[in-house]
Amino acid sequence: MTVDPNAATQDFPSPPSAPARPGGGASRYLVPALVACAVAIGLGAYGKVHDPAGTAFNLAGFSSTGAVKSWLATVSFGFALVQLVSALMMYGKLPGPSWSGVLHRWSGRVAFLVAVPVAVHCLYALGYQTYDPRVLWHSVLGCFFFGVFSAKMLLLRSERLPGWLLPIVGGLVFTALTVVWLTSALWFFRTFGVTT
Ligand code: HEM
Repeated sequence: MTVDPNAATQDFPSPPSAPARPGGGASRYLVPALVACAVAIGLGAYGKVHDPAGTAFNLAGFSSTGAVKSWLATVSFGFALVQLVSALMMYGKLPGPSWSGVLHRWSGRVAFLVAVPVAVHCLYALGYQTYDPRVLWHSVLGCFFFGVFSAKMLLLRSERLPGWLLPIVGGLVFTALTVVWLTSALWFFRTFGVTT
């Protein structure tokens, strides 16, 4: 792994010279993995057991709840793309500014914060549904997205992580959000047109 020394960011674990903290062994991986499973399964279980409220909401200028959510999901996906490109810059795979780490961190925060209200409506109003493969994949990856995102946030606090771990976990977060977007917003725009 090549690390861009200019990409000063808290996303990088400390250099290998730092003394290993006691108890930092397998629990560094086990705790984030268990939290990821608990979050994903917890959201799925809630979505499955609670009766979907079917509540609709709307924002001025939009024609429906589905349109609002599809545009918010697209904004979230757009920031996730910025996060991917800035990560490639941080790892020296793409040329980039010294602040690519800051861009990575903030685009990730915005992508997540924009996705939360959309997912809250999905879980509360629509629930965890499996009535067709598109909706099944959407529901599964929607829960997985929040689980693996939680794991990444916990791993960022760890020191002396193997160089491949954060890119893999970050890649899983990005892939999950991509599938969530493809199985919802893209489907919505292809079915009802690119409408507000
Ligand atoms: C947390 C787990 C999630 C579950 C269980 C879930 C479930 C659902 C379900 C059942 C639908 C209706 C599908 C249909 O009939 O077409 C739906 C629609 C949708 N979801 Fe999710 N979703 C989740 C997360 C997300 C996330 C994270 C996003 C975006 C970042 C998202 C964006 C959308 C959009 C844009 C629609 C289409 C609009 C609509 O029909 O309301 N969902 N979701």
